[in-house]
Amino acid sequence: MTNLKGKHIILGISGGIAAYKSAMLLRLFVKAGAEVQVVMTPNGKEFITPVTLSALSGKPVISEFFTANTGEWHSHVDLGLWADAMVIAPATASTLAKMATGVADNMLITTYLSAKAPVFVAPAMDLDMMAHPTTTRNLATLKADGVHIIEPATGELASHLTGRGRMEEPEKIAEALDAFFGRQQSLRGRKVLITAGPTYERIDPVRFIGNFSSGKMGYALAAEAARRGASVVLVSGPSALPDPAGDVTTIRIESAREMLAACEEHFADSDITIMSAAVADYAPAHPRDRKIKREHEDVPVMELVKNPDIAATLGARKRPGQILTGFALETDNEMANARQKLAKKNLDMIVLNSLADKGAGFGTDTNKVSIITTDTVTEVPLKSKTEVAGDILDRITELL
Ligand code: PMT
Repeated sequence: MTNLKGKHIILGISGGIAAYKSAMLLRLFVKAGAEVQVVMTPNGKEFITPVTLSALSGKPVISEFFTANTGEWHSHVDLGLWADAMVIAPATASTLAKMATGVADNMLITTYLSAKAPVFVAPAMDLDMMAHPTTTRNLATLKADGVHIIEPATGELASHLTGRGRMEEPEKIAEALDAFFGRQQSLRGRKVLITAGPTYERIDPVRFIGNFSSGKMGYALAAEAARRGASVVLVSGPSALPDPAGDVTTIRIESAREMLAACEEHFADSDITIMSAAVADYAPAHPRDRKIKREHEDVPVMELVKNPDIAATLGARKRPGQILTGFALETDNEMANARQKLAKKNLDMIVLNSLADKGAGFGTDTNKVSIITTDTVTEVPLKSKTEVAGDILDRITELL
């Protein structure tokens, strides 16, 4: 575990039997070279003593807003800024509920609300509490808020019942953190070019040919690549989404030709290019300068011309070492059509999504994809576009 060295980790401990395992987790973090600050809920102290934890971390444990005898204030804001990650293990049903709803009645929750760094929770509770719709709902809320859930294991529980709710083993939690920090570095120094959204092809000043792409998939890819340390250029068709944060230069264009021009400018020095835009294949041959008025004309017949194929144009110029990834949006013959595009456009990888799959494709916050190379297919089940972006970038990193 080399990626934890020098990292600042807040270890949050809430009140559950599994708190005894937190001492092991703390030891693993410290052994791997991390600096750890323990923050406990008042109930957490009933299950493991602060003395053990402060001895292992080399720092006083924080549990209250003030130190009673000195009046010293513990700043959750400073802690939140200090941390590279916050890990709450065990996370009880009550702590998860407070996190999901912002009930900031203890130091752990105020620290969570102030944390700028990624947050991980390792739930631990009895099987019925784990399976309760409230817990399911709270975990879904936290996940949507960007919290990483380290799923509980199935096994014998404190109640002596057997089921799902055991806190994941400390080694597994430490490995998850190590892998996370590893991924954060995985694209450092790389330049990534991404296309997103639809293109609009003007018919006249008020009408266009377009499609239903929202840009969500491409923007998720841009944000995730930046989180992994890449310098990103995002070429976006019309989209209501705000520019992604971090090292992302967003270039807003309208038409396929403008998208091609922007890509041509940035492709040569990009290491990775991902074409998730839904580019209009055709544009009006003679866009009008003035609005077409229905009272002045018979039903107009529109002549179309083919737009340039941006992916194929870049594919023809690809240098050894550059990775070019396309998307395929299909309604039928999905795999065969995707493979055909992979070969025809000289891509290294193509991400197939189908409009036949519920929750996949245009406009949704989720996607379900197959990541295809000439000799592999990786199936990615329905999950958030951010998570799908992570899986795509994992595969690309393997190809680099
Ligand atoms: O934006 P969202 O609402 O989140 O939706 C995401 C998405 C469905 C748009 C995205 O996941 C997706 O599938 N994008 C590709 C859609 C598409 O146009 O697929 P295609 O099979 O027609 O094109 C194949 C590939 O060639 C794509 O990489 C496309 O960007 C590229 N292409 C297509 C036509 C063209 N003239 N130039 C191109 O570069």
